[in-house]
Amino acid sequence: MEMIRIFSTLILFYTFFCAAAQAPDISITGIITDGRNPVENAIVTLVKDSRFADTTDSKGAFTLSNKTGISNNTVRNSKENNLIFLRGNRLYFSVPDGISTSDVMLHTAKGRCIQKYSLGKNRSGSPSIELPKLSTGLYFISISSDRTSIIRKLIVTATKKYLCGNSTGNFTSTGINQSGQTSTGVDQIKITKENFLTKQVDISSYKIEDLSILFEPESIANATSLHKRYSNFFHIGAAVDGNSYKDAHASIWKTHFNSMVCENEMKWTALQPSSGNFQFSQANAMVNAARSSGMLVRGHVLCWFDQTPDWVFQGASKEVLFGRLRNHISKVMSEFKGKVYAWDVVNEAVIGYNDNDQDVGEDLGSLKRWGYRNSKWYQIAGEDHIFEAFKAARAADPNAKLFYNDFWNYLDGKREFIISFVKKLKEQNLIDGVGLQCHLNISAAQEKKNNQSAYQTVDNLEKEIREYAALGLDVHITELDISIYTRDYVSDDKSKWYTSPDLNEAYQDKLAKRYKEFFDMFRRNADKIQNVTLWGISDDNTWLSEFPSGRPDHPLLFDKHLKPKKAFDAIMDF
Ligand code: G3I
Repeated sequence: MEMIRIFSTLILFYTFFCAAAQAPDISITGIITDGRNPVENAIVTLVKDSRFADTTDSKGAFTLSNKTGISNNTVRNSKENNLIFLRGNRLYFSVPDGISTSDVMLHTAKGRCIQKYSLGKNRSGSPSIELPKLSTGLYFISISSDRTSIIRKLIVTATKKYLCGNSTGNFTSTGINQSGQTSTGVDQIKITKENFLTKQVDISSYKIEDLSILFEPESIANATSLHKRYSNFFHIGAAVDGNSYKDAHASIWKTHFNSMVCENEMKWTALQPSSGNFQFSQANAMVNAARSSGMLVRGHVLCWFDQTPDWVFQGASKEVLFGRLRNHISKVMSEFKGKVYAWDVVNEAVIGYNDNDQDVGEDLGSLKRWGYRNSKWYQIAGEDHIFEAFKAARAADPNAKLFYNDFWNYLDGKREFIISFVKKLKEQNLIDGVGLQCHLNISAAQEKKNNQSAYQTVDNLEKEIREYAALGLDVHITELDISIYTRDYVSDDKSKWYTSPDLNEAYQDKLAKRYKEFFDMFRRNADKIQNVTLWGISDDNTWLSEFPSGRPDHPLLFDKHLKPKKAFDAIMDF
């Protein structure tokens, strides 16, 4: 009888052991990248238990699991001959003979005792306790008796609980100091590599899969130049004009940006003000200055309803118009061949219409449909003018990237309309990307729900980026600026203008927060975005202070004195 009892106890222990051994204590997997490429040979360690360590492979992948650390879920401390099992929600104990009483305490990760159990003197078999309902995270179980004190980690995930760790002694060794407080979160993983800035990342559960961790070379992480800080993400551009590329703004431009676009100097009025009269000298001076500083150049714009001289449309049949369009595109792109890497071929060809077939502007309340803008291009040639412009551009410079550029892509209906023709362009291999202008406001409009600006959320912008990228298109943020005004009130109400020469702290903070939110999102989508261009360098020179009412604005990263604003610091800090 005695033999049968011993045998069945052994089987019971063995069953517990096997069941427990299959369940991993820790499973943390992830990919380490420098923003663009995987980082190989980085050492990843669990801070509180350095036995969990791995070195990233050529794909930047690492795994911290039982393979690299503790080997099973049942902890046997042979010295104390003490066994603890976790089965479902119940903890089992095997307390050695000679120990009279044991207290079991359940603590939060910060050391607060949630529950105390006393195993008592009269025990038979393995005493057990039922755990209370616990939210996900890390807990500690301490067992103390007159002879021993043992601490175990208890990991609670949404689906399972894991008992792990093999620590005997005081709480300090597992992260809780003598006063029962801990300063860190559940745990951290540490990533190290020579010439890289050591990084510690908080983890909130030991069961984490597919982490994506940014780990940067020291030279990039500590960069003070904006474009260098972003060198593993995307190019950072600025629109410049005929003065700013060479006056006091030039040193900021050259230090912080590695892409440029002419604000007005490559528009049709500037390049061919009258038929056959091509004026390239101003644009060439700007392009050459950019290129000699190692910048990329975006070309803006070949076919637009605005800033196109009247002569282009005068007396023009569709064929005559297309002849002028082809000639302009061919001459202009040939002039800048090999210098301009991406062109906004067509700009702003879509608007919203009301019941009376009029442009609704910001007033989405009266929106009936989205459609092509009723420009002179459209009146003479319909939607064909878009395809004709892209065909001419592809023929003129097959190596240039061709873009359709527009605003308010965060409005689902507008984007759907754009996608309807962009898809056709893509099928004919006529387009490479979309330009999202991103003239934003300091906060999305609240008062007028039908105002387009109410849709300027990070989520909506992220959605537009993902949808365009899913079509196989490059995405450039082409004209980013963030007005300090919301769109809730009319801009000619002078009592609401901000007239102080310098932006006060409250505005600075709010603007910085908004810039940061968008740049955080841009970085998250760096595999889809190749270029983020600001529509200007500093607040002393912004279209928003002229347009539409002369209301002073402060939408850029540098202030009127050419000093970096808090918004600049905010997007450098990640
Ligand atoms: O060149 C003339 C100058 O000779 C004249 O003395 C002066 C008097 O007002 O006007 C000058 O032209 C101005 C031009 O900018 C160059 O400074 C125009 O009036 C003015 O309307 C024009 O504004 C430009 C606007 O496009 C035209 O619609 C802005 O600077 C420019 O920032 C803006 O850029 C557009 C993008 O191309 C497309 N997306 C929207 C973006 C912002 O509106």
